[in-house]
Amino acid sequence: MIKVDVSNVISEEEIAKYSEKAKTINKMINEKTGPGNDFLGWVDWPENYDKEELERLIRDAKYVRENFDVLVVAGIGGSYLGARCALDALKGIKNTEKPEIIFMGQTFSPNYTAQVLDYLKDKNFAINVISKSGTTTETSIAFRLLKSLLEEKVGKENARKAIFAVTDKEKGALKTLCNQEGYSTYVLPGNIGGRYSVLTPVGLFPLAVSGVDVKAMLEGAKVAKKEFDNPNLKENSCYRYAVSRDYMYRHGHPVEMYVTYEPQMTQISEWLKQLFGESEGKEKKGLLPTSATFSTDLHSLGQFIQDGSPILFETILNVINPQLDVVIPSDKDDLDGLNYLAGKKLSYVNQMAYQGTLNAHEVDGGVPCNVITIEKMDAKTLGYLFYFFMRACALSAYLLEINPFNQPGVEIYKKNMFHLLGKKGY
Ligand code: PA5
Repeated sequence: MIKVDVSNVISEEEIAKYSEKAKTINKMINEKTGPGNDFLGWVDWPENYDKEELERLIRDAKYVRENFDVLVVAGIGGSYLGARCALDALKGIKNTEKPEIIFMGQTFSPNYTAQVLDYLKDKNFAINVISKSGTTTETSIAFRLLKSLLEEKVGKENARKAIFAVTDKEKGALKTLCNQEGYSTYVLPGNIGGRYSVLTPVGLFPLAVSGVDVKAMLEGAKVAKKEFDNPNLKENSCYRYAVSRDYMYRHGHPVEMYVTYEPQMTQISEWLKQLFGESEGKEKKGLLPTSATFSTDLHSLGQFIQDGSPILFETILNVINPQLDVVIPSDKDDLDGLNYLAGKKLSYVNQMAYQGTLNAHEVDGGVPCNVITIEKMDAKTLGYLFYFFMRACALSAYLLEINPFNQPGVEIYKKNMFHLLGKKGY
């Protein structure tokens, strides 16, 4: 479904040196014996997900699709980025289909929040609140505001039918609220962490509402699961990619830059930054994941990448066939000198920009570049790609001897903030 070329980053000889480690770690992942092993539920999820729950989710999503103009999704981090990036990648950033999907709760910004609330005042909207812990402050504030606006607009009883929650099976304030109010609720299993949850109801409910074929997405992940449960580094492109990252980390390239040529894939880079950054950035170790969208950023960061401190390597996600295309028209006066491109598609120009840049960065700039070629972005391919990266991340973090599934560093800002806000117990 995708082609992964790591040859500019690591040689076959160097890859072979990781063979034993890859075998050991693959076993650790499958047998759930490594650090954080109680958070490996995502590994078998594409096969083991709750089939009945998925049918209910699809039915509810259809109801929302048919009865509301807007769905507001409230969540942050792993309870936000997956759905956000998949929506962009599959539907585009100027999608006009109904219902419109709006995100809230991923920021404390008063400007953003006030604008969204104002926009919703005259809209027929439903709410999808997503929080595993059920206590995340950004999400909780957003949900309190949304719930109150909705109840004011349509009354408590109708609001109840327009609120859909994703949270833990038993624990947390949101779960207690759902039980009390009788909201339609889906489970984020206890053994799957936020940033590994895109293929659970966390990602799938908003995606199903927007009309994405979520079964195809799970099918893609299932194909990936079969393919990447393989310790052979000659065959497993996912582990080859993971190993290339580790090699870069240990050979003077502490920064990985995710690169796309599609603005609608910029959010995939955001998801990747969370996945790898939160999984690996511990114990003063880990690559710094960063991102750029070309050619936009070739006119800003391009200079640094080509010629600045040689600290980074690229991982390029190159989609060959876009969902839509545009032909460049001919002009009789040709004052802009563009007639040499008349009749050509923008996808062709974009691919030439990709090839020219790859060569400039690799050959002239000496920047190692991994290339992941995606024939066409659709739900199945995206499900496959999500699984590819999650499995690569697990191997990568275990190569660093780090627990990929906790995030102790994230708690410190919360403690300080709660103290400053005067929360009881802080
Ligand atoms: O990956 C993670 O675990 C985090 O990014 C969480 O998803 C994020 O902090 C939101 O947490 P919750 O779903 O509990 O509200």
